Amino acid sequence: MEPALSVPLNQVATWLREAASVVATTGAGISAESGVPTFRGADGLWRTFSAADLATPGAFARQPGLVWEWYRWRRAIISRAQPNEGHRVLARWATSLRRFSLVTQNVDGLHQRAGSPEVLELHGNIWRTRCAAGCGHVVDDSRSEAGIAATDEDQQVPVCRCGARMRPDVVWFGEALDPAVVNRAMALAERCDVLLVIGTSALVYPAAALPDVASRHGARVVEVNVDETPLSPFADAVLRGPSGTVLRELESLL
Ligand code: OAD
Repeated sequence: MEPALSVPLNQVATWLREAASVVATTGAGISAESGVPTFRGADGLWRTFSAADLATPGAFARQPGLVWEWYRWRRAIISRAQPNEGHRVLARWATSLRRFSLVTQNVDGLHQRAGSPEVLELHGNIWRTRCAAGCGHVVDDSRSEAGIAATDEDQQVPVCRCGARMRPDVVWFGEALDPAVVNRAMALAERCDVLLVIGTSALVYPAAALPDVASRHGARVVEVNVDETPLSPFADAVLRGPSGTVLRELESLL
């Protein structure tokens, strides 16, 4: 990718208007204005633990109760949170832009609650719970945790009907993503004319590879972020600011 140029907002709006296909990829930053903590920001710690301490198969094997406590804390925050302007703009673009696809690293379901009709979730969804032993049992906890058969008395770890532990249906560090989902995301990046990279530290692969894939296939890459990231020097345009505000301004120019 070429080094970033100083590109005005209305130029980015023109790219979006003229694009036959636009893809937006989002990270925790898009939900920050809804009050959901990001992973690597100042609010990213829970007690003394970071996501990298807890979102791993090893942490779940050693301390499943602690990992579940963290997920219940995140679920409680997310259930109180409302989609923000950024989520809503992206939901509207599903119908107002010619061809628009949304790929997210987030597991919070806020894009769907904002009305996005189709969301490619790279890292799963925090509201689903699945058997950790792989028997295939999946429970939708989006309304309550009532679907989970029982919890182990001491640790409050949900137990599957097969007797194994249940875990959140999200991708943890060290785990592979669903190859079908990754392939779809890569194909979207290869075929788009504009790739928006919104609210992500652009560090976690394979999501972090999407801008390079898109750029190599001729797309413009536009970053929306409050801070500098490893992608910033390579993006075709960098829009600095909170995603809700920036996306709303961009939408007003379309
Ligand atoms: P991070 O916490 O790493 O990064 C959040 C990004 O959002 C940072 O670059 C912030 O500068 C930016 N940001 C914060 N507030 C913003 C706002 N209001 N508007 C725009 N940008 C804002 O989160 P992710 O990049 O999503 O994976 O993290 C990637 C993955 O690492 C997550 O999906 C999760 C995590 O571990 C797994 O759990 C597998």
